[in-house]
Amino acid sequence: SFALSLTGKLVIVTAGGTQENIDPVRYIGNRSSGKMGYAIAEQAVRAGAHVILVSAPTNLKVPDGVDFVLVDSARSMQQAVDSRFDSADAVVMAAAVADFRVVNMANQKIKKMETMTLELVKNPDILYGLGQKKSHQVLIGFAAETERVVEYGMGKVHKKNLDMLVANDVSKSTAGFNVDTNEGYFLFPNQDAKEIPNMSKQEMAKAIVEELATLIQSK
Ligand code: C5P
Repeated sequence: SFALSLTGKLVIVTAGGTQENIDPVRYIGNRSSGKMGYAIAEQAVRAGAHVILVSAPTNLKVPDGVDFVLVDSARSMQQAVDSRFDSADAVVMAAAVADFRVVNMANQKIKKMETMTLELVKNPDILYGLGQKKSHQVLIGFAAETERVVEYGMGKVHKKNLDMLVANDVSKSTAGFNVDTNEGYFLFPNQDAKEIPNMSKQEMAKAIVEELATLIQSK
């Protein structure tokens, strides 16, 4: 049961791994399953929020009660989020956004060759952009680290101007990509870190939504 409710609040949740096209049949992707973001969307609906789930393609069932927006690349995700940001009360960026995209997508399928070179260019950092322009919105990010989780995570809290960061150690087999459990830390700009023990992604999603409700209330 939720101590605080999200009734009347608009929450944007991003999920899944973005796909960066190489040609009409190939893309650069990552191992994100989308499970954490979908679980957060589901729990936010249960807490009474209007939820817009902006998702890269996944194998998951769309949770009941969300407004679903399917995207593919980082830039299409950015467009979907930015265009809805002004009316949002919170954005939870659980998506694994590709850091690079292909400079020139081929219009035709690329033929076999002995070697080939793809030129990549940095993608926009969607969350950083939101942090620069936020007013009342609560911003929650995720960070996958393999070492110095709290130190690197706090760096991202400040750099991206976040209200909370869920930092997890993906070198562990019980946390992060493609598993059903997660653990790590909830980090805040002006509050002690909370260590989160291993639990199911549904349970962690519930804990994140409770923090989210508290953060919205305290704005
Ligand atoms: O800097 P790093 O990629 O570790 O930060 C992760 C957080 O930033 C996640 O919440 C992710 O969704 C977001 N992000 C983003 N745009 C990018 C890269 C990451 O919004 N291009």
